[in-house]
Amino acid sequence: MQFSESMLADPRVFALGCLPAHSSHRFCFGSGESCELSLNGTWGFRWAPRPDADFTPWTTIRVPGHIQLQGGPSYPFGTPQYVNKQYPWDGHEHIHPGQIPQRWNPTGEYRRTFVLPEGWQRCRIRFEGADSALALWCNGSFAGYSESSFDTAEFDLTELVHGGENELVARVYRFSSGSWIEDQDFWRMSGLFRPVTLFTTPDAHLADIRVQTTLGADGSAAVQADCRLENAQNASALRLTLDGRTWQLPAGETVCVKAAIASPRLWSAEAPNLYPLCVELLDADGGVIERSDLDIGVREFGIHGGVMTLNGRRIVFKGVDRHEWSAEHGRAVTYEETEWDILNLKRHNVNAIRTSHYPNRTFLYDLCDRYGLYVIDEVNLETHGSWEKRNIIQPDEYTLPNGRPEWRDAVLARAEAMYQRDKNHACVLIWSCGNESFGGETLKAMHDYLHAVDPGRVVHYEGVAHDRRFNDTSDIESQMYPSAAAVREFLAEHRDKPMILCEYGHSMGNSCGALEEYTELAWQEPLYQGGFLWEYMDHALWKQLPDGRRVLVYGGDFGEAPHDGEFCVDGLVTGDRRNSAKMQAVRGVYQDFAMEVDKDGIRLHNRTLFTNLDRYDLTIALTCNGEVRRTVTLHQSLAPGERCPLPLPFALPEADGLWTVDAAVSLREDTSWAKAGFVIARGQGIFDRRAAADSVPADEALFADCDFNYGVTDGDFGFMINRNSGRLISLRRGGVELLAGPAELNFWRAPTCNDDGAAMPFHFAKWAQAGRYAQADKVERVRGGIRVHYLLATEAREGVEALWKFDNAGRCTVTLTWEGDTVEVPEFGLLLPLNVGLDRVSILGLGPEETMPDRERGALFGRWDYPVGKDEDIYMVPQENGARTGVVEASVSGDGMPALRLSTPGSMVFSAGHWTPNELENARHFWQLPPVTRTIVRCAAGVRGAGGDDSWGALPLAPYRYTLHRGDSFTLTLWVE
Ligand code: GAL
Ligand code: MG
Repeated sequence: MQFSESMLADPRVFALGCLPAHSSHRFCFGSGESCELSLNGTWGFRWAPRPDADFTPWTTIRVPGHIQLQGGPSYPFGTPQYVNKQYPWDGHEHIHPGQIPQRWNPTGEYRRTFVLPEGWQRCRIRFEGADSALALWCNGSFAGYSESSFDTAEFDLTELVHGGENELVARVYRFSSGSWIEDQDFWRMSGLFRPVTLFTTPDAHLADIRVQTTLGADGSAAVQADCRLENAQNASALRLTLDGRTWQLPAGETVCVKAAIASPRLWSAEAPNLYPLCVELLDADGGVIERSDLDIGVREFGIHGGVMTLNGRRIVFKGVDRHEWSAEHGRAVTYEETEWDILNLKRHNVNAIRTSHYPNRTFLYDLCDRYGLYVIDEVNLETHGSWEKRNIIQPDEYTLPNGRPEWRDAVLARAEAMYQRDKNHACVLIWSCGNESFGGETLKAMHDYLHAVDPGRVVHYEGVAHDRRFNDTSDIESQMYPSAAAVREFLAEHRDKPMILCEYGHSMGNSCGALEEYTELAWQEPLYQGGFLWEYMDHALWKQLPDGRRVLVYGGDFGEAPHDGEFCVDGLVTGDRRNSAKMQAVRGVYQDFAMEVDKDGIRLHNRTLFTNLDRYDLTIALTCNGEVRRTVTLHQSLAPGERCPLPLPFALPEADGLWTVDAAVSLREDTSWAKAGFVIARGQGIFDRRAAADSVPADEALFADCDFNYGVTDGDFGFMINRNSGRLISLRRGGVELLAGPAELNFWRAPTCNDDGAAMPFHFAKWAQAGRYAQADKVERVRGGIRVHYLLATEAREGVEALWKFDNAGRCTVTLTWEGDTVEVPEFGLLLPLNVGLDRVSILGLGPEETMPDRERGALFGRWDYPVGKDEDIYMVPQENGARTGVVEASVSGDGMPALRLSTPGSMVFSAGHWTPNELENARHFWQLPPVTRTIVRCAAGVRGAGGDDSWGALPLAPYRYTLHRGDSFTLTLWVE
């Protein structure tokens, strides 16, 4: 076996000396003694900018870990580089598929020693992930070579090791021909980023096991275990134990055990029932040579009657796309981080994960088996930049893999590695042939391979949506980012395959508008079986600023070129694992019980596949102005898939107030992922029965009509409006001023990432300063108030009238009236700069987390208290944030200060943060915002929705694009208490 670094550029060389891929079952000696020795930890390390350059002096490095995240703030081993479609070397060296950059192919050399544990007859080594290629030497002899960053590589070292100290040297190359088929949209980094383990195998060894279950008509399950043994001659029998029974067969190179479970509890995400399965290899005396363990689930999945079914029921995927990520460790994720994600997803009603875009650490599948999440397992394959260039789909002779023979084996080996390792996981329902790799013969061959080896699963490939030459490459129709309307249209014509969206709802920044358009479609159109939100987590990384602060950064922040900026921070959860308000919406649209509440009752829909509602508590509460008046808890039966109307358990009062009826489904018992009492579904009806407030117009004696200002005061409270600018310039009580500057008309909210992608700033630029630079052309006293007429700083000079009315109790009610033509605006309302000590908010409106007009699902009307600026660093690019919709009352208060109270007869969009929209949009990062000196309150009649079908052109849906018509008005009452 020969290796030379020139092979790095040969796509036909991707594995030298690699052991065959196999199932990821656990095994140990018959005695229970471990067969493994972890080689994680500190390794010796040196680095060179390319394999033939001078290496740095030896230092150390942590395994698992990325090379580029180690070595300290000067990045001595190169920096991470974030690119999406373009290949990382684009603009540096013009090369063609297979070739690798000549000037820049950073190479890390790892070195460590080990002493063979006593009694090991054989010695092997397992690398679970080496990005992008690994060459290994043991005691100076070449041991093997492997590409495919996310697939396991195992080498046999038995012939190379000796007693005493042994030395391993691994070279890890940042680029290899394999990099051409790893063009995933993510941070490009290299190194041994997954565990390295030395292991032995007992005298006889279960090298591979494939377990298949089939449900019988009588409810029993046939369980077939196909076992492949190594050194079978050293064993006499194989004993399989399952569900309290054992089956014993003579040992052989292959052993097929036909076991059974009499009446199995089936596996599903709703009830993840697992059965431990144990295989022992026995010697002639019945002694156990080796013991292997895995957990199996009994379930039946496939396309039946034209739709995907699980255990006989039509399935709906409520999914997310998930990359392995950690702001701390990059893709070298820990078990704890992964389990946190799984619990977080379960608690937000997510039932499925697509392992975009590569096989994950094996513990992910263990966790999904155990907690109950469906998985689309994806082959480590993406060639995006080889066929979509500068946003135009243009395949050419370099497009990969297509039918190119020299790439075929490398590509197919990746499917085999995934299948072999993960085949026994109940959670894996669908195999995905990779992401965005165009179409062609090789992908079709991959599909056929996966079907041949595994008839029990469905094969998915989205790429056929771009290249229909081999449409059968995918068993199901899968698309990315069409609007819900486009899905409807597609399915109206194409009824031959069930459909999912393997990516939808691009969750970048302030996004996730109108997700219900998609999620409801799954209950209207049987062929639409759900989707996977892009994406679960921001790929943000920690970085130290020159002043010592540690901050979260995105593409470009390491000075790398080229880069694709903020497109890597498009998650529902921040890189340091904080849920954004988008998760509130996810929880709302993905809930298993839909409940629509109106005055006639509650319409319930059980959207589970297998779980009756009576397993849970159904609590119905009556609230008035945010306070609970009554609660009733029911045990209501409702079978899976069924709907039923339920009358309200109490009469709805007619009395003055804002009444709600809140329905909540909660866990009656603890589960593995949440405690009893945890609410899994909510519904709410809002009944606005507020009587119009009667207010006595202020005595004329309270007015101070002076030369420069109009004042209204009783000596304790005070308002002042400037007669030039027509602006409110003072708002006080007891001598304390609340305003930090004049109130402004406001038509602007800081553009979101989605707005940027849709050129919203281009189309709406004039609204950015329209209110801020408005001029008053008339300021006059009227009975009980002051009327101001403004001309906006727009070319059309649209007019807005503000009528300020005051009462004797110190309340002021302003009504803003739009005098222009019908026009779409980002926002319409008032901006109040307040003094900074006002730092607490209480609202009666939708919450608790931020909402947008098109993102109210999952929010509840109620009284919510939170600090000013809560979560304002949650979007990595500063943008519109912190709004609460459906607000009828708000107060902003601070220690030792009077509070500003606000109310509206209708409802408003309210926000209280630290920066104006203009300030927000001027920063690229949170830490670049000016120092906090004010509290900025915005009260608006309406605001443009978040949108988010995609972030490259999609607009918020029409009903959520706020439009003004002549005569539209907004009324707000303010007072200081
Ligand atoms: C898809 C792709 C993802 C990601 C996303 C945009 O086209 O599959 O990997 O790039 O778009 O964020
Ligand atoms: Mg891509």
